[in-house]
Amino acid sequence: MSLFRKKSLEALLGQTDAAHTLKRTLDAKNLVALGIGAIIGAGLFVRTAAASAEAAGPAVTASFIVAAIGCAFAGLCYAEFAAMIPIAGSAYTYAYATMGEFVAWTIGWALVLEYALGAATVAIAWSEYLNNLLGGVIPYQWCHSPMETSLDGVRGIINAPALIVLLLITLVLIKGTKESANLNAVIVFVKVGIVLLFIGLGWQFINGANHSPFLIPEGTPGHEGIFRHGWGGVLGGAGIVFFAFIGFDAVSTAAQEAKKPERDMPIGILGSLVICTVLYILFSYVLTGVANWQEFKTAGKEASVAYAIQKYMPGFGWLATLITVAILAGFSSVILVMLLGQSRVFFSMSNDGLLPRIFSDLHPEYRTPYKSNILLFLFVGSFAAFIPGSMAGDLTSIGTLFAFVLVSAGVWIMRRTDPQVHRPFKTPLVPLVPILGIIVCAGMIISLDHRTQLTALVWMLIGFAIYFSYSRTSSKLA
Ligand code: ALA
Repeated sequence: MSLFRKKSLEALLGQTDAAHTLKRTLDAKNLVALGIGAIIGAGLFVRTAAASAEAAGPAVTASFIVAAIGCAFAGLCYAEFAAMIPIAGSAYTYAYATMGEFVAWTIGWALVLEYALGAATVAIAWSEYLNNLLGGVIPYQWCHSPMETSLDGVRGIINAPALIVLLLITLVLIKGTKESANLNAVIVFVKVGIVLLFIGLGWQFINGANHSPFLIPEGTPGHEGIFRHGWGGVLGGAGIVFFAFIGFDAVSTAAQEAKKPERDMPIGILGSLVICTVLYILFSYVLTGVANWQEFKTAGKEASVAYAIQKYMPGFGWLATLITVAILAGFSSVILVMLLGQSRVFFSMSNDGLLPRIFSDLHPEYRTPYKSNILLFLFVGSFAAFIPGSMAGDLTSIGTLFAFVLVSAGVWIMRRTDPQVHRPFKTPLVPLVPILGIIVCAGMIISLDHRTQLTALVWMLIGFAIYFSYSRTSSKLA
């Protein structure tokens, strides 16, 4: 029994024919909107300030460029796979066909960090902005993890609002309310609208002094370590804001619903990436110009965008409120996509026999994997309730970066093992682009802090233990 046994490409593509139920209704525009809907969220509205405070200073703008470059290389690789194997399951499925079961399991397990911890991170950010909207009425201890302490020494107990929003969205998912393309379009419109509004109105409040020095100078207290100041800090910041780009790969999970996947998948993936990159660069430039990056360590640590407006843009209190409401709505859709993505990956893994059947049991009436949704809520909820957002966010980044490295490698490998397969979209300059994707993404993994790296390693080791003790023998291929 080989660790590298593969699902054949024919079997996979046969699955597409069998999937009569999914209608091909999405065109390139819808796919770009789907991407933006899943991309813009806590990464921009929360992690930008965090990356600036922790690693990059005003140069967080440059961090966005580095992260975008890594995503572009990986995105080109995703586009080749998504057009060639247009079925659900994303990176996990591609790996099963190209690099075999063990690598597929590894990616599936890493995707839990992406989707499940991503959902937890956004739920924690949701809690921050809710409390800001309510004028801070929720006592600190009830909206923070036990690992956090306020500036005046209050220790967190549980992040209750984060738990509640996850519960609500889980219930929506169980009922199977399908996020329609139209609803998504409205949310995208609102999200892009507030980002543009903040850029446009905030531009005149930029204080040039906040942008200089552009790089955090060596010797700044609290910024010891190569990835915490200077150009190294830009890379460190990239690892943190990378979170803001996560979601473009979600476009690939809709491949079965695309009208012309071979043309529209690459447009959807790369188009949403380009639009978000431009918005992110401008947004971070304005944010770090309006408020000083040092403030994001203290008073402006939470709900940073609202903080910057309230403090430095007199007369724009309404904008802070408007942005906060829009952010809360926007975050909810990101959480929904993440939880949905997670249950889909578990669904595929369970169908392949790598996970117990409980993850693919469908509700008799709603036809949704409700047991899986409930288990996921308990799992994601325990992270959202008890760990800080920065920890969850960095774990999400590392898990996704790891999956990107494997997808990039997969494109290269498959060009050699299956050169004859029809590829409607071809990643340009193979193997250069996959190699650069691997290098930039691995660079960001290395720049994340040791605690994150160690936790991710432990997570992967647990995954390997489960694979060898259970999944390997229960696999349908076995
Ligand atoms: N990119 C998504 C966000 O920033 C995950 O919330």
